[in-house]
Amino acid sequence: MKSNPSTTGEWAVEALGLVKQFGDNRAVDGVDLNVRAGSIYGVLGPNGAGKTTTIRMLATLLRPDAGEARIFGVDVMRKPQQVRQLIGVTGQYASVDESLSATENLVIFSRLLGLGRAESRRRAAELLEEFGLTEAAKRPLKNFSGGMRRRLDLAASLISQPPLLFLDEPTTGLDPRTRAQMWDTIRRLVKNGSTVLLTTQYLDEADQLADRIAVIDRGRVVAEGTGDELKASVGSSSLHLRVTDPGQITTARETVERVLQARSSVTAEAGRITAPMAEAGQVTDLLIALRGAGVNLAEISVQKPTLDEVFLTITGSGPGAPSPDAPAGNERMEARNA
Ligand SMILES: Nc1ncnc2c1ncn2[C@@H]1O[C@H](COP(=O)(O)OP(=O)(O)OP(=O)(O)O)[C@@H](O)[C@H]1O
Ligand SMILES: [Mg+2]
Repeated sequence: MKSNPSTTGEWAVEALGLVKQFGDNRAVDGVDLNVRAGSIYGVLGPNGAGKTTTIRMLATLLRPDAGEARIFGVDVMRKPQQVRQLIGVTGQYASVDESLSATENLVIFSRLLGLGRAESRRRAAELLEEFGLTEAAKRPLKNFSGGMRRRLDLAASLISQPPLLFLDEPTTGLDPRTRAQMWDTIRRLVKNGSTVLLTTQYLDEADQLADRIAVIDRGRVVAEGTGDELKASVGSSSLHLRVTDPGQITTARETVERVLQARSSVTAEAGRITAPMAEAGQVTDLLIALRGAGVNLAEISVQKPTLDEVFLTITGSGPGAPSPDAPAGNERMEARNA
């Protein structure tokens, strides 16, 4: 519909040192992001990490306190109007009117964007078809399921066919089937030339959907790369073990760290120790050393690392459970990013 010369650039998003402070809470604390045009970029982080705040700054909805950002080369602070022509945003909460039907909502959005009456109707029908909402088109929104609302919200953000879409937790709260449909929709958008920056708390979502991932924790990017690179950063395999006597956790961790020459983490709920392994063969040495230290094992396994473990290794806590004591793993990844 709209062809814009500035969409031909290589970078859809270039952000450097973004900062946002709310009172004495530094919600975003120096975030750098580079999103290649035509890709899906995942911003992964637990509750309160600063994902929404980062998106709002990139989408010109919130003014950064420091740093700079460009969307397809256009500066978000100097030329917000021009940036708004290039983006679509869907919020964590559907931004549509409850009492109106799906069609009415989309027509209103279209009119607000300056489309004529006939064009608005046509576009609404097209999008409802695309998102499998044709049958529900006349129903008021308050009778829509969560998944239908999400799809309508996404449809609304596509009225103007923006080259860059910000999707803030597009699948949170959706059932697995609807989630898979949303993934397909997102992939299709990118195939048709859009760029997508999405936030998620789901590690598998970032891993499966995104070309590159930034892990953000407490306002900072603590790791960045492809899913494979992030997995590689925790070693080629990953060790899991549980000791029979919780009193031996410390001894077990010391032994693991000495033999594997790596930092371990421990999950609070099950007392499970995990650590990256350079090679699976190290497990033999480890078992000998653990027996030497008198540690009794309840369970041991060697697996391919999941993105959950990447998160655990990097932030020292599982997703959604930010730990107050930042581990050394944090510093290591930041140093790599610096
Ligand atoms: N308008 C605001 N005023 C004050 N504090 C805010 C505001 N918006 C966000 N915050 C705070 O900034 C921090 C980051 O919030 P943000 O919404 O960006 O996190 P998030 O990563 O999107 O989390 P979630 O996964 O829960 O959506 C939080 O501590 C939040 O309480
Ligand atoms: Mg959020």
